[in-house]
Amino acid sequence: MEKILVLDFGGQYDQLIARRVRELHVYAEIRPYSSFSPSDIQKEGYRGVIFTGGPNSVYDPSSPRCGASVLDSGVPVLGICYGAQLIAFMCGGEVAAAENGGEYGRTLLKTEEHALFRDVPAESVCWMSHTDRIRALPPGFRITASTDHCPCAALCCDGRKLYGVQFHPEVAHTQYGSTVIRNFLFDICGCSGDWNAPDHAGELIDRYRSRLSGRKVLLALSGGVDSSVAALLLHRAIGRDLTCVFVDHGLLRKDEGDLVENTFRRSFGVNLIRVNAEDRFLQKLAGVTEPERKRKIIGEEFIRVFEEEAKKLGHIHALAQGTIYPDVIESGKGPSAVIKSHHNVGGLPDRIAFDEIVEPLRDLFKDEVRGVGETLGLPRELLRRQPFPGPGLAVRVIGEITREKLSLLREADAIFREEVDGAGLDRAPDQYFAVLTDTRSVGVMGDAGTYGFTLALRAVTTDDFMTAEWTKLPYDLLERVSGRITNEVPGISRVVYDISSKPPATVEWE
Ligand code: XMP
Repeated sequence: MEKILVLDFGGQYDQLIARRVRELHVYAEIRPYSSFSPSDIQKEGYRGVIFTGGPNSVYDPSSPRCGASVLDSGVPVLGICYGAQLIAFMCGGEVAAAENGGEYGRTLLKTEEHALFRDVPAESVCWMSHTDRIRALPPGFRITASTDHCPCAALCCDGRKLYGVQFHPEVAHTQYGSTVIRNFLFDICGCSGDWNAPDHAGELIDRYRSRLSGRKVLLALSGGVDSSVAALLLHRAIGRDLTCVFVDHGLLRKDEGDLVENTFRRSFGVNLIRVNAEDRFLQKLAGVTEPERKRKIIGEEFIRVFEEEAKKLGHIHALAQGTIYPDVIESGKGPSAVIKSHHNVGGLPDRIAFDEIVEPLRDLFKDEVRGVGETLGLPRELLRRQPFPGPGLAVRVIGEITREKLSLLREADAIFREEVDGAGLDRAPDQYFAVLTDTRSVGVMGDAGTYGFTLALRAVTTDDFMTAEWTKLPYDLLERVSGRITNEVPGISRVVYDISSKPPATVEWE
């Protein structure tokens, strides 16, 4: 398999670079500059190297660097932003703070004839984000692009196969960014594009079959995309030697537990243990109102239930997890060091000894995981699920949690989701749900007064959930949802729509 190395110098778009490369069907690996040695290029057989951006100034002696021999390994190197400045600096050029304070945002880029800019018009829009700039070219280099404020927006030394771009080709705002990356991969590095995540599924199944055959493996299935795809993949590899434990804490959305059970046990024949632990969880949560305390209780109880089930099974060789590539990169701890908490609420059992941790999806991005899930036949309802917090509805019932409140919320939430799903919106919100507030208000129904709960509807549009905008849902849709909820869910007499963005509000209320 052809591989590209993305050498991480701390830039904010590093994962995006690797994703763009993989979208072009070339496998990319991200590695921190600090744990990389130039000899790895030959050892790993990388076809090319991309230096990422980063927040530092190359002329600062403590700035991140890499061994100079990378540049003379014969393998093409493309530097992006800081990466371009680093190439220039290492080759004897001069980098300095831009006199005009740098460039940020959409900028007009003028390109010259060069292999990197094949099929890129002479003028196009690029995305800039830099305070330093290359002031003097290193010997043997030439300028291949410029902007009004940045005379050296791209440079190259074809003889040494070194290339740099000051702008960010990985960002969607750069009109021809993907073309630039494609040119680097195919024309300059000579890749052919042999990577495809769904095809990779077969290879993973074979790999785990031979690695784990005849050994017992345990997986905590939450019904989320990652653990579901990991479960199916390992099921294909080792069949009944995989046991999935699905802890139903009673805080799931309407019919969700049954969907998970039916899909895995009935449709796929997975060896699944569903633990109906609602009573246990609700007992522990009785009278608790503080959100972080709720999370802690749920996390601890989850581990206790999981451990009890594991113990009943006798010796288990490995614990499998749905860790995906961004989890691995973010942990920054290198291979197999990450322990992902399946419910993101409390970590993993540490009182059970496993011989190994198995993470079949650790090289894949989320969209690639979905691709693999699709190939394995995972139904759309599970594959396209919106994110759902580990503590579930516990953080959407504000204040004390009771069975009755959960039931009201489940019904109202199901109505809201059904109406949004059926509304034929051009772009569905990325997350939408109902929250049962702890506030009651007076109302009137027929001739009688009521004093029911106030329900809040929340819908957000976002790319990464770090920031989010409240979704401008059509009024007629909101009207339908409100009418249905107040009519069909006795106990809720008022419906409000949350019009706060993140920041300052968070997506969840608790
Ligand atoms: P916030 O509320 O932090 O949510 O803006 C951002 C995203 O994270 C989800 N979320 C959680 N997920 N355990 C989880 O597994 C949690 O405790 C938790 N709290 C928030 C939230 O649903 C949204 O997608």
